[in-house]
Amino acid sequence: MAQIHTNKSLKSIFGITLMAAALGMTACSSPTDPDVKARQDSMKSWGDAMGVMGDMAKAPDTFDAEVFQEQAAFLAEDAATPWSHFANQEAAGNATEAVWSNVDGFRAEAENFEKVTAELNAAAQTATSIDDVMPAFSQVGESCKSCHTEFRVKND
Ligand code: HEC
Repeated sequence: MAQIHTNKSLKSIFGITLMAAALGMTACSSPTDPDVKARQDSMKSWGDAMGVMGDMAKAPDTFDAEVFQEQAAFLAEDAATPWSHFANQEAAGNATEAVWSNVDGFRAEAENFEKVTAELNAAAQTATSIDDVMPAFSQVGESCKSCHTEFRVKND
C-alpha cells in the first residue's frame, strides 16, 4: 500500500517537473525576437515577389508587365528594410555569426542588393517582355544567393 502510494507520488512529481521544464523552454525560445521576426518577414515577402517574377521567367508568354512592375517596385522599396534589424548579435535567428564578424562584407552584399533591385525596378518600368528584365532579374537572384552563402545558416 505504502509502496504503491510512493510510486504514485514520485510519478506525479516527475510529471510536474517535466511539465515545468517544457514550459520553461517555451518561455525562453518564444515569442521570436522582434528584430529577427521583422527581417525574416521582409525576406519572406522578397521570396514571394521573386516567385511571382520567376514564374514569368519560366513561362515567358505569361509575362504581365504591370504585375512584374509591382513586384520589382516592392523589392526596390523594401530592399533596405532588414539591415537595421541585424544590430543585436544576441538575436542570431538563422543569420551566421559572419554578419557580425564580417560587417563590411555583409554591408557590401546589402548595398549590392539595393543597387540591383533599383536596376530591376528601372528596367521593369519600360519592359514589354521578360527579355527586357531578364538580365536585371538574374542579378537580383544572384544577390540573394551570394549573401545567403556566407550570411545565412544552411538548414537543408
Ligand atoms: C545582404 C544579405 C542578404 C540578401 C541580399 C538577401 N538575404 Fe535573405 N537572408 C539573409 C539572412 C542573414 C537571413 C537569415 C535571417 C534570420 O534568420 O534572422 C536570410 C533569410 C532569408 C529567408 C528565410 C526567412 C525566414 O523566415 O527564416 C528567405 C526566404 C530569404 N532570406 C529570401 C531572400 C531573397 C528571395 C532574397 C533576394 C531577393 C534575399 N533573401 C536576399 C541575408 C540576405
